[in-house]
Amino acid sequence: MSTQAEVRRLTAPDIRARKGTTPIVALTSYHAHTARIVDRHCDVILVGDSLGMVMHGLETTVPVTLDMMILQGHAVMRGSRQALVVVDLPFGSYEASKEQAFMSCARVMKETGCGAIKLEGGRRMAETIAFLTTRGVPVMGHIGLTPQAINTIGSFRAQGRDEKDWAPIEEDARAVAEAGAFSVVVEAVAEPLAARITAQVEIPTIGIGASAACDGQILVLEDMLGLSPRVPRFVKRYGDLGPGIGAAIEAYAADVRARAFPGPDNVYAMRGKPGKSS
Ligand code: KIV
Repeated sequence: MSTQAEVRRLTAPDIRARKGTTPIVALTSYHAHTARIVDRHCDVILVGDSLGMVMHGLETTVPVTLDMMILQGHAVMRGSRQALVVVDLPFGSYEASKEQAFMSCARVMKETGCGAIKLEGGRRMAETIAFLTTRGVPVMGHIGLTPQAINTIGSFRAQGRDEKDWAPIEEDARAVAEAGAFSVVVEAVAEPLAARITAQVEIPTIGIGASAACDGQILVLEDMLGLSPRVPRFVKRYGDLGPGIGAAIEAYAADVRARAFPGPDNVYAMRGKPGKSS
């Protein structure tokens, strides 16, 4: 008999059903320890391919591999109990064909146990999204700024700031929703466009730099904690952990150099011999 209270993990249909109700709270996490904390407060944990930039110091997400996503996805599943864990498909693991996308999703879902995957692209990915969702893969879409396309778009800039650019982005949102995605990330788009998209699609929109008009919000954890050296202007810093971590490491280094650490409380005494550390 289980001694722990059973907690039912949120599912993609649960998140889908939140359209028009309470806002969906989402954050990224790549590790078991941060997942444990995020899990207490969030509905969705995204193991984003931003891990390439945040954990590995890469300039873009393009070099991230499926193996990197699976390793961190597994860690986040071990650290969390109630949130829906969504794992990103990295560049090159799904665009070639819908069959390639399915094989990548199957690996991610079998090897991590996650509840859904996310992939970037609107109309161009609609056929793939329909293929996946009819074969047991819950898909979160991602439109607007799609960072994996950095080499064709040239820079990480906001989308839809001129009304003449709105139509293709709205079409992307509708295509992803009609293909069967359970939700869609809308990244770095002008507020009125985010509001129009949210009103047009029947699935929840999860905004990042896309205003409070969206049905939910997501941020990169390290960005909102103040741990990232550079962040986009849409990020609100809810913490400033960098100086605290720096001060702790500085104190540790000083203690080690002064032989003040380990102290009596941090060493093992011999059994049966009373002493300060017994
Ligand atoms: O990779 C990521 O962290 C993301 C979010 C920015 C939505 O895709």
